[in-house]
Amino acid sequence: MVMAEGVVTPNPAAGAAQPAAVPERPQIVAPSRKNTHGVVSGPVPHILDAATGLTPTLQKFRLDGKVAVVTGGARGLGFNMASALCECGVKAIAILDVLQDYGDDAIALLHHKYGVAAAFYNIDVRDEKAVQDVIASVQQNLGSVDILLCSAGIADSNIKAEEYPIDKFRRLIDINLTGSFICAQAAAQAMIAEGHGGSIIFIASMSGHIVNYPQQQSCYNASKAGVIHLMKSLAAEWAQYGIRCNSISPGYMDTALNRVPALEAQKTIWKSRTPQERLGNVDELNNTAVFLASEASSFMTGSDLVIDGGYCCW
Ligand SMILES: NC(=O)c1ccc[n+]([C@@H]2O[C@H](COP(=O)([O-])OP(=O)(O)OC[C@H]3O[C@@H](n4cnc5c(N)ncnc54)[C@H](O)[C@@H]3O)[C@@H](O)[C@H]2O)c1
Repeated sequence: MVMAEGVVTPNPAAGAAQPAAVPERPQIVAPSRKNTHGVVSGPVPHILDAATGLTPTLQKFRLDGKVAVVTGGARGLGFNMASALCECGVKAIAILDVLQDYGDDAIALLHHKYGVAAAFYNIDVRDEKAVQDVIASVQQNLGSVDILLCSAGIADSNIKAEEYPIDKFRRLIDINLTGSFICAQAAAQAMIAEGHGGSIIFIASMSGHIVNYPQQQSCYNASKAGVIHLMKSLAAEWAQYGIRCNSISPGYMDTALNRVPALEAQKTIWKSRTPQERLGNVDELNNTAVFLASEASSFMTGSDLVIDGGYCCW
């Protein structure tokens, strides 16, 4: 039975089987009123956080005081997710990318718009020494790393497997899979040393679950399947240190990666095979990234979230 204040109590008609303990009643400022239709209204309970004005549930999405590192954050999905982390309170952000101009613009924008400390590091995620140095520099200049978001990645498509040049294959695996591991390892070493845990978010792809049609892209698909299983393996190993690892698997998103002439004709096919009949907008992973980075997902590790407009349903 639901009482006026919204407290669930045992139903007396159910007899002795009901548990004796009654849940604690929420704090109510003054008695609520019940109108003639039985609708409860009245003062707002005293549950809002004094500083932010948010309810406890929404408060868990805040990232105040955290330090985030975003690879591939100079543009595209990575930049948009970096913006969302800043909007939700991180105190500092480091962008790792190979695009100097985009990187410079990205940190200037993040600093001016959100007031965060922001640094750009022009490094290749395949360079393990450079990545180690960057994490050390972030710790020294921005603070200990709480969040790592691995968005750096490349795609090759429309290359038949029987003709795939091996050096091209190796390069893609090196960036998408090995590069993700190099960054995760460096961040995890820092998190373990600091002893405060953290959240590592990988950007995988629906291509790690299904085989795209009609383009041939065996290497990309394999790299992203590898990222998902790497994420699960690291989640299992690093849970003991309070490090959570999860991934996001986007469907077709409207970013520079897909704005190439060779793919234009295929976009019609992609949309027709997507229940929502469109590509994702560049900011449509933002809320998921904040969720995974924050305490809102505190009991979640080793999970992959597919965000694809329904593509994988068919
Ligand atoms: N766009 C999509 O449809 C889509 C779908 C599924 C998954 N993804 C994945 O999302 C991630 C971001 O893609 P995007 O669409 O924003 O692409 P993007 O090309 O706009 O962004 C990728 C960023 O990674 C950087 N990068 C590439 N290689 C790097 C390296 N070796 N070292 C450091 N930085 C490097 C690029 O410079 C770029 O800024 C990628 O991992 C991609 O595979 C994209």
